[in-house]
Amino acid sequence: MALPQPEAPPPSARPTGHVALIGMMAVGKSTVGRGLARRWGVRFIDTDTEIEATTGQTVRELWEEGGEPGYRPLERRAVQAALATSEPVVLATPGGVVVDDLMAEALAGEDVTTVYLRATAATLVDHVGDGEGHRPLLGDDPPAAIAGLLRQRAGRYQALADLVVDVDGREPDEVVAAVLAGLST
Ligand code: S3P
Repeated sequence: MALPQPEAPPPSARPTGHVALIGMMAVGKSTVGRGLARRWGVRFIDTDTEIEATTGQTVRELWEEGGEPGYRPLERRAVQAALATSEPVVLATPGGVVVDDLMAEALAGEDVTTVYLRATAATLVDHVGDGEGHRPLLGDDPPAAIAGLLRQRAGRYQALADLVVDVDGREPDEVVAAVLAGLST
């Protein structure tokens, strides 16, 4: 006798083209991006993972070797390549997407829907504490570094966003649901 199958979630309308998640490091772009891609049946691309696969080095090693001037061009190439694919993708962009004009420009294309996952510094500090590795920009005082980066970048993320979704107090699957709801209105 066939066992009852779990009910499939109702299909969610997917924007045409690519969806790029932007926001600070540790906000949850990779987890939420994976969830959205699964839901829509499209490919998920994580910029940091792509860079590590292409170079054969970790993000930390690459920062140690070349610092920011060495790393940003790698990010730019990975973001541009991801958004140039013919099939739609969900892309987790690097936190520094807003510090590079060409990366920001790549997101401004008409075939890209940009979703800003927004969090307070307190939430980000909390997530970093969960041990998400590779954070070369955080130095010896992660709370101060995060507060400083957020101050510099929040307005730029906001300006690039087609949709803003708040992450504070939400589990990743609740953030996925909020993105789906926001994109369907
Ligand atoms: C950075 C964020 C990190 C990584 C690098 C620089 C930033 O990416 O690319 O450490 O400038 O905020 P994630 O946002 O994927 O963690």
